[in-house]
This record gives sequence, C-alpha cells and structure tokens, in this order.
Amino acid sequence: MELGKRDPITGRETTGHEWNGIEELDTPVPRVVLFFLTVTTLFAIGYWIAMPAWPLWSTYTKGILGIDQREIVAKQVAEARQGRAPWVDKIAAMDFAAIQADPDLMGRVQIAGRTLFEDNCAACHGVKASGGPGFPNLSAKSWLWGGEPDKIAETIRVGINSTNEDTRISQMTAFGRDGVLDATQISNVVAYVRSLSGLGSDDPAEAPAVAVGKEVFAANCVSCHDEDAKGKQDMGAPDLTDKYWIYGGSLDTVFTSVYSGRQGHMPHWGSRLSDVDIKILALYVDALRPPQ
Ligand code: HEC
Ligand code: HEC
Repeated sequence: MELGKRDPITGRETTGHEWNGIEELDTPVPRVVLFFLTVTTLFAIGYWIAMPAWPLWSTYTKGILGIDQREIVAKQVAEARQGRAPWVDKIAAMDFAAIQADPDLMGRVQIAGRTLFEDNCAACHGVKASGGPGFPNLSAKSWLWGGEPDKIAETIRVGINSTNEDTRISQMTAFGRDGVLDATQISNVVAYVRSLSGLGSDDPAEAPAVAVGKEVFAANCVSCHDEDAKGKQDMGAPDLTDKYWIYGGSLDTVFTSVYSGRQGHMPHWGSRLSDVDIKILALYVDALRPPQ
C-alpha cells in the first residue's frame, strides 16, 4: 500500500489500495449529493416541528401548525351535510306522493338513490337491480311484498326472514322433502306452473299432466299463491304467471322450488341506514324500470 500516490490519467490521489493492479481513486462524494442530503434532512426536521409526526406512548407530536386531518374531514362532512340539508329535510318531512310530484327532489333521489343502491344493494340485486338466481329483479314490478314506496321502505327497514324482530316472514313449503306430495304430483304441478308463463311444451301428451297439475295446485298452492296463481303480497308469495322468476323457470329449478321449498333472506337495513336514506332508496327502487 502506497499512500499519496496519484493516478496518472485523472490526476487524482488513490486510496492506496490495489487489487491485482487495479487501484481505487480517492474521489469525494459529489457536492450535489451532499447538497440534496442536507436540504432533505433540514426539510424533514422542519416538517417534524411543523406538522403532526412522531407517535408517542399514548399521543403524538402535534406540530406547531396544529393541522389535524381528522378535524378537516369532520368539517368537510359537516359542510356537505349542510349543503344537502335543504333537500334532505324536505324528503324527511314530505310524504311519498308529494316527493314524487316534485321533479327537483326526484332528481336528487335519482342521484343519491343510485349511490346508496350501489353501495348497499347491488351486491345481491345487481347494479341495475335486475337480480339473479335467488335475488329478485327489483325493476320488474313483479312484487313479493308490494311495490308502493311505503311497502318497499318497510321491506328495506325490516328485511325478509331477517334477524329484525318485525321482519317480513315467508316460506315456500318443501312439498317433496316433507312428503306432502309425491314425485308424480310434483312433476304435474310443475308442468302446470310452467304452462302459466308460457313455458309448457306443445306436446299434446303433456296436456293431461297440466290438467292434473292444476288440481294439485288448487289443493296445495292457492293458500299462498292465490286461485289465479298471481301470488299474495301479504304472504310474500310470488306471481307464478309472469315471465319473472326468482330462482328460475327451467324444469329442474321449478321442480327443486316445489320439492325442497324456498326461503330467501333479505337483510334488514333499519339499523344501518337512516330513515331518510331508506326513503330515498324506496323512491329510487319504485322508479326503476326494466331495461328495454
Ligand atoms: C344479502 C343480499 C341482499 C342485499 C344486500 C339486499 N337484498 Fe333485497 N332481497 C334479497 C333477497 C334474497 C330478496 C328476496 C327474498 C325472498 O325471496 O323472499 C330481497 C328482496 C328485496 C325486496 C322485496 C321485493 C319484492 O318483490 O317485494 C326489496 C324491495 C329489496 N330486496 C330491496 C333491497 C334494497 C333497497 C337493498 C339495499 C339497501 C337490498 N335489497 C339489499 C337479498 C338482498
Ligand atoms: C306457505 C305458503 C306457500 C305455499 C303453500 C306454496 N308456496 Fe310457492 N312460494 C311461497 C313463497 C313465500 C315463495 C317465495 C320464496 C322465496 O322467494 O324465497 C314461493 C315460491 C315459489 C316458487 C318459486 C318462484 C320463482 O320465482 O322462482 C314456485 C315455483 C312455487 N312457489 C310454486 C309453488 C307450488 C307449485 C305450490 C303448491 C304445490 C306452492 N308454491 C305452494 C309460498 C308458498
């Protein structure tokens, strides 16, 4: 190791280390790097002093500027609430018919309702409220419990077969599993039910099954689905004559509905959404139309 040696090409001193003829230049850290290191360190120290920064045992350093993001958010929320207050208060105070007659309020309902629906309901009923197997299409106007806004609001508030003490309760009997009807009777009543919405086959050999099925229906199903099979809204029993199905209209699915019964569950929202939000949702759902 030779100290003070200069590299002949760059003219710089070397560190004196040498590995198999390769020597190391003693180049200092560039000034620009030192400059930025100093600036960023000073900035960090200044920031710690000015802003909330370091966690302490049960609190944190607050910073001399006293900026609190939590307070800022609370203030922004309060401002937003104040901005909404005029129309939210109107919706809270007015009855459904009066709100529906007010185009300006209904415009607000459309916007706020869509957000509320997407946040809380779309997971089950779909973004366009068109449902899916097991989840009813809310735009179809084929109601289990009634489609007037006050009825929809009640369904949203208490749920269906939910844990709310006022819940709407419904259950389709498991005719096959509970041994009320045998397989032939079920096949016949299924043929009849499907024929009601035009899903029967044209095969004349099917006709007797539909005729027998009609008798099975009259004896077992009308207490809930009514004589004309259009359903009873006080039982939550669906209209079996329209083209909308909750679970599906295929032979297998209708057979399963009758054989094993059905009991859908809709959560209750009374404890999670405010009365005004439920009102907005009821008006929003009522105003939905099936996609063309
Ligand atoms: C966890 C899934 C789920 C969520 C979330 C949900 N629903 Fe439902 N909803 C259902 C099911 C299932 C039914 C049908 C119950 C049945 O078959 O008896 C239903 C039924 C309904 C009905 C009754 C329809 C009729 O024909 O009378 C309305 C109205 C309704 N939901 C609105 C809403 C709204 C509004 C929201 C959001 C606040 C919502 N639902 C969130 C599952 C859900
Ligand atoms: C105790 C009342 C009750 C009786 C009796 C009853 N149903 Fe139902 N039924 C319901 C209810 C309530 C539903 C809706 C269940 C749900 O949405 O979870 C339903 C649903 C159905 C469905 C599914 C409809 C769909 O949209 O997917 C079919 C099919 C059906 N019933 C056929 C029958 C037939 C056939 C009989 C007679 C053999 C019958 N029901 C007797 C209450 C009843």
